[in-house]
Amino acid sequence: MASPRRSLSRVQERIGTSHSITDLSQKIDFYDQWASDYDQDVAILDYRAPRLAVDCLASAFPFSPQEALLLDVACGTGLVAVELQKRGFCHLHGVEGSKNMLELAKQRGLYQQLSLCVLGPEALPAPSDHYDAVMVVGALSDGQVPYSAVSELLRVTKSGGLVCLTTRSNPSNLPYKEALEAELARLEQAGRWKRVLVHTVDQWERATSEKEAAGSSGSSHGFISGIIYLYCKQETTPSKTMGV
Ligand SMILES: C[S@@+](CC[C@H](N)C(=O)[O-])C[C@H]1O[C@@H](n2cnc3c(N)ncnc32)[C@H](O)[C@@H]1O
Repeated sequence: MASPRRSLSRVQERIGTSHSITDLSQKIDFYDQWASDYDQDVAILDYRAPRLAVDCLASAFPFSPQEALLLDVACGTGLVAVELQKRGFCHLHGVEGSKNMLELAKQRGLYQQLSLCVLGPEALPAPSDHYDAVMVVGALSDGQVPYSAVSELLRVTKSGGLVCLTTRSNPSNLPYKEALEAELARLEQAGRWKRVLVHTVDQWERATSEKEAAGSSGSSHGFISGIIYLYCKQETTPSKTMGV
């Protein structure tokens, strides 16, 4: 039987708790407990990241989506796959750190391959230069995918392939966002990838508190802002990869 629809304030409280967990194993435990209500709760929060990120990727995709192989990292219950499929991307692999979220993604039936993997402590279960595009949506923040793992996303992306990342711009996430942006710039300076676009979105999702809404740059009407980064992997030579 479907669980009763919760109020926005209960959802805000729950997601505020999630944002405050900065330890990775505690965060994964939290997602294990949250999994069965996740889709319903993020719909109440007006969580738009999957659609917005897929729109960005699709707008810059250089060839037919039907032929592309994509990896959805921290895929959760598969909301990104739903959006990808609407735009014709049908060869999808996913990795996810929470067993219960992964189980729900399996039940959606949109991924040809799904693996349990906690990125950061673990490498991605994929060969190098394998995917036409790699996405991380809603999982780049403290206690989730560490910014230091971005080079692992690049490893599994083909030369000329795209990497699409999102993060939040609310006050509590700003230190992480700054560190992430420094890592993105470092990899660009090292010639590993080139920026295709950066897209700031004012109404990313509803804020979990008035304080978060008020302190989120560019946000409006109780929402926090967020950001989408799209990069294209450059041809690598042994000298370019040394020390990066
Ligand atoms: C906010 S949800 C986003 C899920 C999905 N991408 C979406 O947009 O609906 C974050 C997901 O990232 C997963 N996650 C967090 N850190 C992770 C890590 N280091 N490795 C793998 N999965 C992780 C969580 O278990 C959770 O399912």
